[in-house]
Amino acid sequence: MKVAILGFGTVGQGVYEMLQKARDLEPGPVLVRPGKADADYKVTDISAITGAPSVGAVVEVLGGIEPARTWVEQALQAGKHVVTANKALVAQCGPELAAVAREKGVALLFSAACGGGVPFLHNLALSTRSDDILSVGGILNGTTNYMLDAMQSRGADYAEVLKDAQQLGYAEADPTADVSGLDALRKIMLACAVAFEKLPCEGLYNEGIESLTADDVRHFRGMGYTCRLVAKGGPVGDTVFAFVEPTLVPASAAECAVKDNYNLARYEAKCAGDIVLIGQGAGRYPTASAVLRDLSDVIAGQRVMMPQACVRVTADCSGCGHPYYVRLPEAFAGKLPCDKVAVDNGIARVITKALTVKEMHDTAAALRTRGAQVFFAGIEE
Ligand SMILES: NC(=O)c1ccc[n+]([C@@H]2O[C@H](COP(=O)([O-])OP(=O)(O)OC[C@H]3O[C@@H](n4cnc5c(N)ncnc54)[C@H](OP(=O)(O)O)[C@@H]3O)[C@@H](O)[C@H]2O)c1
Repeated sequence: MKVAILGFGTVGQGVYEMLQKARDLEPGPVLVRPGKADADYKVTDISAITGAPSVGAVVEVLGGIEPARTWVEQALQAGKHVVTANKALVAQCGPELAAVAREKGVALLFSAACGGGVPFLHNLALSTRSDDILSVGGILNGTTNYMLDAMQSRGADYAEVLKDAQQLGYAEADPTADVSGLDALRKIMLACAVAFEKLPCEGLYNEGIESLTADDVRHFRGMGYTCRLVAKGGPVGDTVFAFVEPTLVPASAAECAVKDNYNLARYEAKCAGDIVLIGQGAGRYPTASAVLRDLSDVIAGQRVMMPQACVRVTADCSGCGHPYYVRLPEAFAGKLPCDKVAVDNGIARVITKALTVKEMHDTAAALRTRGAQVFFAGIEE
């Protein structure tokens, strides 16, 4: 099958290279920006791809919503299978694009959008055919895992590890989507859609690591915990809960062993139990390998990853809860139901009684509007 590629950046170049050596697949035209078509296989007009009968599949690795959405839809309408690594696109437009794919009898697969090289969505989609999924989650952002691991192992501060992550190519010049938890949130949205036929679009909570300090990390270590940015999702009534937050995990947890920029994706299935996958969550070749795995699935006959019955829902995070570690100004500590409080130099470090995710995230947001500097992390029991 001849495969066209939209976007020739980090992942696009990896896909092109891997296609040259792949069985049953060959590289086709590559769409680049006008003025950048410096080789015969590069084109600048989408119609050179959608109108080419020899092209069987299109890989979208442009990123962003537009023009990716329009071009993916045009490719599907033209009867081409589509594989995308674009989590923002699938989180925003997945159900509509999947409906077009279904109508045209072509594939729309997106494993690379969640977990990079880790075959998370691929296995999750497979498990839904024969088992009930009870929960999904894990460490779904490699950039922040690198930063948290470096802070924990080296005692370095946030600014220093962010700079290192940027120099190593793990973090972009604008790291906001990674460090705010938004990237991981989009991934857990996709996992919920695949696992529970519900794409949560509102009522979601994500707390990042921007306000974490080396002092916080020293405290976690003293308590025997390691901090990881963890995403969680699961069914609740007619909807799902889905959130991302820094989480303190004990030494016995698998998450604690996830080093450097690795990911850990997990799901619990009713019959199969807990399934844990660890691997490279990003990078040229790990991500390109996930794209090629999807292309092989297309050849094997797989068509859909987004379930037909998938509906958009408002998430409900008012039922799930746990204790939290919260660092905040002493004057505000009384706003939280505390189990333990340590105060030093006007800064309180609180271990709360069990709070729901909604209560904790809403309380932190309210305190911040009053000017309080707050960091919080869930405590895994
Ligand atoms: N990198 C990873 O490790 C990774 C992992 C998992 C998923 N992904 C996803 O894969 C997608 C691509 O990521 P990436 O890291 O490869 O990004 P990237 O290096 O920025 O590559 C994107 C490429 O698309 C090109 N492009 C953007 N808009 C275009 C347009 N209108 N016409 C023609 N070309 C256009 C860009 O050209 P310019 O440079 O000229 O803008 C760039 O060459 C994203 O959705 C990302 O979330 C990436």
